[in-house]
Amino acid sequence: MQNVLVLNGPNLGRLGSREPDIYGALDFASLTSAVEAAAANLGLSADVRQTDSESELIGWIHEAVDAKQNVILNPAAFTHYSYALRDAAVQITKAGLKLIEVHLSNPHTREEFRHTSVISGVATGVIAGFGTDSYLLALEQLAK
Ligand code: DQA
Repeated sequence: MQNVLVLNGPNLGRLGSREPDIYGALDFASLTSAVEAAAANLGLSADVRQTDSESELIGWIHEAVDAKQNVILNPAAFTHYSYALRDAAVQITKAGLKLIEVHLSNPHTREEFRHTSVISGVATGVIAGFGTDSYLLALEQLAK
C-alpha cells in the first residue's frame, strides 16, 4: 500500500481558531482524520504531520526521499520565502517521486507577498483554494 506523507508547515496546527473566515472552522485534528479517511477510501495510507519548525519540515522531506514516498505539502508561510525548503523539495521530484503543493486558501487572491511560491517551481502540481478538499484532490491524484 502506498504511504503518503502529508506535511504541514507553521501555524496550521492552529486551524479552527486561526482566521476561520479564511481557513475554515475545521481544526487540525479533524483535518487529519478527514485526510486519513479519504486516503483509506482510495487504498492509500496517509501519515499526516504538522510543525512550526523549518528544520523539522526539511528533515521530514529528507525522510520521504529516502523512503521513496510521495508527498503532499502545505508549506504555509514557508511557501513564500524558504529557499531551504525548496532545496529540500526539489529532491523529491528529482528522485522520481511526486510532490503536490496544497493550500487551503487561494494565495493569489490575497496579499501580494502570498502571490510568490518558491515551492511551485519544483512541485509536480499545485492545488489551492478548496479548503480541506485541496488535500483530498491531491490524494486522488496520487491514487491514480
Ligand atoms: C496557506 C497559505 C499561506 O499563505 C499561509 O501562510 C498559510 C496557509 C493555505 O493553506 O492557504 O499559513 O498555505
